[in-house]
Amino acid sequence: MKHRLKSLAMAVAIAGTVAGPLAGAFAGLAAAKPLTYELPEETAVFKPGPGIEAAQNNCAACHSADYITTQPPKMGRPFWEAEVHKMISAYHAPIDNDDAKAIIDYLAATY
Ligand code: HEC
Repeated sequence: MKHRLKSLAMAVAIAGTVAGPLAGAFAGLAAAKPLTYELPEETAVFKPGPGIEAAQNNCAACHSADYITTQPPKMGRPFWEAEVHKMISAYHAPIDNDDAKAIIDYLAATY
């Protein structure tokens, strides 16, 4: 496989010196070959609720929603307030005050 690719590349290189435009078209065709792959299934998603957008936009940037969904339920507002502020101060999450408040409201009400 590796060998075949190498010789193909050499063929393109040789063709390039002989017929530039033709080799260009050939390379273009090779690049256009579609690559498809399966994305792994999303294992954790945010529960629906008011303010979910703020959480999705700000809290899944560094880690998955797992970190939130695996916390014990009914921890209450002070817990989530502390979590959100910890993300901002300890891990430098770029979250503005309005979003932070919306996220705390959302987490306290939803989890
Ligand atoms: C700037 C990156 C970043 C962002 C943005 C971020 N976190 Fe985190 N979060 C971390 C890191 C780093 C950890 C610790 C990872 C570890 O210990 O494995 C963590 C861990 C957690 C944990 C696990 C408990 C803990 O305290 O360690 C929770 C819950 C959590 N984050 C919630 C949130 C919420 C809610 C938001 C949105 C307000 C958020 N995170 C946004 C970086 C971030």
